[in-house]
Amino acid sequence: MTLPKHVRIVEVGPRDGLQNESEPVSTAIKIELIDRLAAAGFAEIEAASFVSPRWVPQMADGSAVMAGIRRRPGVRYSALVPNLRGLEGAIAAGVDEVVVFGAASESFSQRNINCSIAESMDRFRPVAAAAKQAGLSLRGSVSCALGCPFEGAVAPSAVADVVARLADLGCDYIDIADTIGVATPNHVLPAFEAAVRQFPLERLSGHFHDTHGQAIANVMAALECGVTIFHSSIAGLGGCPYAPGATGNVATEDLLYLLQGLGISTGVDLEATVAIGQWISERLGRRATTRAGNALASRQARLAASRLAAIQTAVPSPCTSVCTIDPSTGRCAGCGRTLDQIARWSVMSDDEKRAVLATLPS
Ligand code: HMG
Ligand code: MG
Repeated sequence: MTLPKHVRIVEVGPRDGLQNESEPVSTAIKIELIDRLAAAGFAEIEAASFVSPRWVPQMADGSAVMAGIRRRPGVRYSALVPNLRGLEGAIAAGVDEVVVFGAASESFSQRNINCSIAESMDRFRPVAAAAKQAGLSLRGSVSCALGCPFEGAVAPSAVADVVARLADLGCDYIDIADTIGVATPNHVLPAFEAAVRQFPLERLSGHFHDTHGQAIANVMAALECGVTIFHSSIAGLGGCPYAPGATGNVATEDLLYLLQGLGISTGVDLEATVAIGQWISERLGRRATTRAGNALASRQARLAASRLAAIQTAVPSPCTSVCTIDPSTGRCAGCGRTLDQIARWSVMSDDEKRAVLATLPS
């Protein structure tokens, strides 16, 4: 089995993740999430959608999000656009890449973008041409490539057909998406085999939702097919509002843990990513949906607690009971430490504590 040495991760949490939140997420949190992800080493971040706010209200602030982020050199910020109006918004907001999103199933196409697959391609054609003219990277997404919530199984030939049409539009990259997270690894190879007959493997990506807990196994299957681009969502956030029952993408923390274990580089800092996953989950008021992220966060918390305990116990406090401040000296009547020294004792290094002890009357 030959696995790639390097994998590119497209972090889709700010878009695919947050779009499914039922409560409004503030623009400030979206901006902070994107900036934190860029600082952790993500070179591709799906930051916004320029879709109808009537269809996806959570994504209505795409322009404000793009205006608020600190653009980090070398990072590609992408956004979904369903039509020319969306493209105009995305260009004005300064995105680097736009994503046209089609589907391999007619029913999902109707539910998600209110038109047939053929109509969607007619709609995407001027979008693709204008995006190219504006010098933007163009990505095409094939939703329900591995199963549809309305039609069930999807034939690899249907995937090949949509990939061919997106390739014809001039897409630079094409995503093979398991929108509802139903696939098992044996479905992955036929879908990619069909896609690769129409489009270069090195520009195809795997976009796996984790509804049935199969996303990491599907990533592994795709790696074995030679796929080198994967989408994932911080803390496993997300789902598609028009795909009933679908949960979030494969969690970025789980993906990074797998790739690190396999010795595959990504350029992303796992520890920083775990911290971001915990941070955004706290903001959203729930536990992160990532086994690796939660396990690593618990481990980090245990290590921090034991380090603190070691600091606290290595040089014991000179007062065995509670200190009592003498107002005339501003020091503890028992041990002689100042109020500030008592307050900071638990966070001082052993050397600092010894230095303080040396100044106290014996
Ligand atoms: P429609 O209702 O057929 O079109 O929607 P319309 O032209 O009648 O527009 C409806 C309203 O939206 C009008 O406003 C338009 O002006 C406005 P009104 O007159 O009623 O006030 N409008 C827009 N506003 C802002 N930006 C725009 C825009 N376009 C129209 N770009 C449409 C058709 C495609 C617009 C609609 O169906 C839509 O926006 N769908 C988006 C659905 C969506 O975002 N789904 C989630 C993303 S896909 C996904 O998550 C899957 C993916 O992750 C891969 C995977 O996992 O499979 C990518
Ligand atoms: Mg998705």
